[in-house]
Formats: sequence, structure tokens, C-alpha cells
Amino acid sequence: MRNTINLFKEMKVAGEPIAMVTAYDYTTAKILEQAEIPLILVGDSLGQVILGYETTISVTMDDILHHAKAVIRGTQKIHVVADMPFMSYQATTVQALQNAARLMKEGGVQSVKMEGGTAIASKVATLVDAGIPVMGHIGLTPQSVNQIGGYRIQGRTLESAKKILQDAASLVEAGVYALVLEAIPSEISKIITKSFAIPTIGIGAGRFCDGQVQVFHDLVGLFKDFIPRHAKNYGNLYDSVLLAAKDYAKEVKDKSFPTDQQTYYLSDKELEAMKDNIDLC
Ligand code: KIV
Repeated sequence: MRNTINLFKEMKVAGEPIAMVTAYDYTTAKILEQAEIPLILVGDSLGQVILGYETTISVTMDDILHHAKAVIRGTQKIHVVADMPFMSYQATTVQALQNAARLMKEGGVQSVKMEGGTAIASKVATLVDAGIPVMGHIGLTPQSVNQIGGYRIQGRTLESAKKILQDAASLVEAGVYALVLEAIPSEISKIITKSFAIPTIGIGAGRFCDGQVQVFHDLVGLFKDFIPRHAKNYGNLYDSVLLAAKDYAKEVKDKSFPTDQQTYYLSDKELEAMKDNIDLC
């Protein structure tokens, strides 16, 4: 049985921080399972780090489904939450229900994440009533980058901080099981974390959240187009991969690859059976 949403509430009560990571493929998901990560997000950040889009806006339901299925195939225990991509839930509640159901039925994920606060709370409540666990996402919501006017820290003014607190309250009321807080001051995320029974998961929201989430490519240092201040590189895979690819190209060029170790040969018997019919040079 995979981790359920109850585990994350229990972890909050026990004061045990939740480490959440994004993943988009089978191999990464397997590694994260081995690392005992309890919660994977198939994030629409795949638009940038996998598909090379400038923003997450172009990501489709089919993109998320494709990658969610791979992550599910690579895991047994981890709870997998998938992002509802831009415009897969904003139009109508029926649209939100149908697309969330697709992610669970076809994608095999255990819950969905939606960006937005009070404005989407009634849709969240309908999904939760239908048995679909929903993770909220407030503060900096990248799908609204054009509305916000860039990837800016949210909640720096009284008005903006009040809106975030209201968004959090509306989503908790609607029944979210956890809340991603992105790019907001630590003082605001601390209030939200202390005010509600559900866990908060921060990304650029300081140390008082109940958990943290990082984009896998940032975590392992594999994506260099831009590195947000809130990201920490625990590895430098970009340089390792670059070095490996350069070494490979050099060895192909100077013919030091392949060696006998990477080469298949015919046995004497196979050679004997062929030599009269094929010119073996
Ligand atoms: O898509 C994503 O990776 C996310 C995280 C930044 C929370 O939404």
C-alpha cells in the first residue's frame, strides 16, 4: 500500500518534517523510493526542466499523464501527487472533476495539486467531496506568471499577506490535505503552519513549514537555465553528465571506445559455420 494522505497529517502531529521532491520519469522515481522520500510531485515544472518551455503554461494533461504513469511504474510505496496543468480546472467544476479523475484513473496517482486560493476553493471542495485528495498551492503560483507579472515573492505587503492568509483559510475549509507555500516570507508561512492542522510544504517559504519541496533537477544540479534562490544543489549532475558525454565523444573519435570489453565476437564454432559463405574480411 502506498503512503496515504493520513501519513502527512501524522507526520505534522509528530513534528517529523516531510521531504517532497518532483519526479517525471521511472528511473528518478526508483531512486527517490530508495532514498525513502515519502511524497513525489509530478509537477508541471516538467514543462521547463524536461520539455524546455519558458513557463509551465504550455503543459497539457497528456504531458502530465505521460510522466505520471512513468513515475507510478517506478514506485510502490511513495505517494504520488500530480499537478493539474494550466486550464485543466479553471473553466468549470465539471472540467476540474473530469481531469482530476483522469489523473487518478489513467495516471494512477493518489492525489492532485491545484494552484490558486479562494478563487478555486469551491472547485476544490467538489473534488474532495468526490473522493479526490487535493493539495493546494498558494503564494507564487507559476501558472499565473502573466497575471502576477513575473516570478515575484508574494506576501510582502499587508494586502498581499492578508490575501495569502485568506487563500490558505479558504483552501483548508475546502478540504485540502496539504498546502504548498511558494516564495512567501517565512513570517507568513509560519503563521499558516501554526494556524492549521494540515501540513504546509514550502518552496522558498522558510524553515517553519512542515515540509519542503524541491524540483529534482535543482536538487541534483542538472538544470542551469535559471537557479532560483530557494533551490539548493545537493549534487552537480550537469557537470558530471557533460564530462561523461565529452569523454565518450573523445573516445569514439580517437577509437579508444569500444574496447574488447564492450564487443561481441563469434565463437570458433559459429565462425567455422559461416566462414565458407560470408567474407569475414
Ligand atoms: O511544478 C512544480 O514543480 C511545483 C513545485 C515548485 C511545488 O509546483
